Amino acid sequence: MRSHYCGQLTTGLIGEEVALCGWVHRRRDHGGVIFIDLRDREGLAQVVYDPDRAEPFAIAEAVRNEYVIRITGRVRHRPNGTVNPNLPTGEVEVLGHVIEILNKAKTPPFQLDDENVQDDIRLRYRYVDLRREEMQANIKLRGKVTRGIRDYLEQRGFLDIETPVLTRATPEGARDYLVPSRTQQGEFFALPQSPQLFKQLLMMSGMDRYYQIVRCFRDEDLRADRQPEFTQLDVEMSFVDENDVTDLMEDLMRALFKQIKGIDLANPFPRMTYAEAMQRYGTDRPDLRNPLELIEVSDLMKQVDFKVFSGPANQVDGRVAALRLPGGNELTRREIDDYTAYVGKYGARGLAYIKINHLEQGRAGLQSPILKFLPDDAVRAVLERTRAQSGDVIFFGADKARVVNDSLGALRSKLAEDRGLARQGWAPLWVVDFPMFEYNEDEGRWDPLHHPFTSPQSLDLKELEDNPQDSLSRAYDLVLNGMELGGGSIRIHDPELQVKVLELAGIDTGQAREKFGFLIDALSYGCPPHGGIAFGLDRIVMIMAGAKGIRDVIAFPKTQTASCLLTSAPSPATASQLRDLGIKINRLNAGRELHSS
Ligand code: AMO
Ligand code: AMP
Repeated sequence: MRSHYCGQLTTGLIGEEVALCGWVHRRRDHGGVIFIDLRDREGLAQVVYDPDRAEPFAIAEAVRNEYVIRITGRVRHRPNGTVNPNLPTGEVEVLGHVIEILNKAKTPPFQLDDENVQDDIRLRYRYVDLRREEMQANIKLRGKVTRGIRDYLEQRGFLDIETPVLTRATPEGARDYLVPSRTQQGEFFALPQSPQLFKQLLMMSGMDRYYQIVRCFRDEDLRADRQPEFTQLDVEMSFVDENDVTDLMEDLMRALFKQIKGIDLANPFPRMTYAEAMQRYGTDRPDLRNPLELIEVSDLMKQVDFKVFSGPANQVDGRVAALRLPGGNELTRREIDDYTAYVGKYGARGLAYIKINHLEQGRAGLQSPILKFLPDDAVRAVLERTRAQSGDVIFFGADKARVVNDSLGALRSKLAEDRGLARQGWAPLWVVDFPMFEYNEDEGRWDPLHHPFTSPQSLDLKELEDNPQDSLSRAYDLVLNGMELGGGSIRIHDPELQVKVLELAGIDTGQAREKFGFLIDALSYGCPPHGGIAFGLDRIVMIMAGAKGIRDVIAFPKTQTASCLLTSAPSPATASQLRDLGIKINRLNAGRELHSS
């Protein structure tokens, strides 16, 4: 049907007869001549119809946007003054002889070049949305990334192995998607939150190096960088330590960014401990392009009369931290109130500040609602430690460390965004030495920060049991520009240690047997030391594409409420399906109202 893609027409084809197929992107009437911009996957071509050929001219007059047509014609140079330098095919046009309407189209639900189409309209008519140049580029980019990954890993001896989708729960911290079993009524499969246990079993099976580009499912609160089903690049290796994994994976990332985007990422990637990241940025995925930092002042506030500060300063789990914003004394009362409300969303009960109007004037040059509560030496020490300059403002957070980190960490990002402080470019970072556990106050137990198959750094069982709060794990996360791209760890390969860690996580031996007996058995039949990592593929593509969210790099994504507007999934099951499955719907908890909102 066609000789070329529209986007492939160049001056080299001048004089040749071509046949093109595609969508009518735009049709213009110009003083008796009709121009059709014909679009396909590869780009746009301009086709011209003269009135002296009455029949094709009449058809060209009748076509509308998004009609699917086939044309034939001769390629020629565009007349002087009509060359379009913005278009790869902008030097040529096709003088059309024939035009065939292959299919009519209704008026599209939105103009393809409209930048402000509502998300739900885009998703409802995703096939139209995907015709847009930007979306086509994103989907093509995604293909390049997966192909680049495969080439890289295959060359290095990794085996691509599939793992089950109908499986048991894999604890990654989210809620499971369940699938009812018909043959075992009342029982459920879980869709994998990750192939974690299978990839470990593959190491015990002697596969040595595994990878998979694999769909994972997590029923969790959705955000711009989270979908209920998403894709991981999942990797596992035998006989390795953490440097073997991180060295190879950062080399893969460098190769991908170089090959696909021409970007040189740092070599090596910097590393930072979890403790340092929390201390300096209040988060374990800091964007290092942002120059602002949290500064510890707890030690300076232990003796002050101001209870708001001295309280947390004297508590083990408390923290008082400062955040200096250069040039920030120009912030208005109103702006500071807005920032106070902003940190309030993260649990902060206030946002104390000191404006440094004239540093050289001492107290008189400062402006602050808390100045009267702070003695001279504390003020002086804060100014020194934060390296305050005239014109700055220093914000303070005082509370449980978690609240201070969350709120000042978020404020740090917000200030950089509002005031354009972050530098451009790429800031990869490995975060290492994560705590093994974090205390779950609601459940009164120690939850693994990564997952319960992650090896602790110290193999001393007694120490682990006595001081779970102090034990570090062999986990690592890769952060790029403030986004967590991937995370992994060296795993536990000793069955006894595995049982102990599960126990500390509140899973007693009986339960551990019930849920993970197969893993513990496998660990005792010859298990190599092993470790691995998983990357969010959607996030890698998103950041390469410069997209606002991962939805824009997934062909058919789901909405904020985890539904597909195109196919209207999820949808009710029929009565006979439910009967087969032995399921009765409790109308109080089911139905549409859960999906909308
Ligand atoms: P983790 O849970 O950190 O580790 O997941 C790995 C990476 O997957 C991406 N990711 C997501 N992307 C989009 N939508 C989501 N809902 C979503 N959830 C996670 C993130 C994240 O860094 N089995 C372990 C890995 C291992 O230990 O090897 C795991 O799944 O980019
Ligand atoms: P107050 O004594 O409550 O009027 O607070 C005095 C100043 O301290 C105000 O600017 C508050 O916003 C601020 N503030 C109150 N609680 C906190 C807190 N937990 N962390 C930081 N600043 C606070």
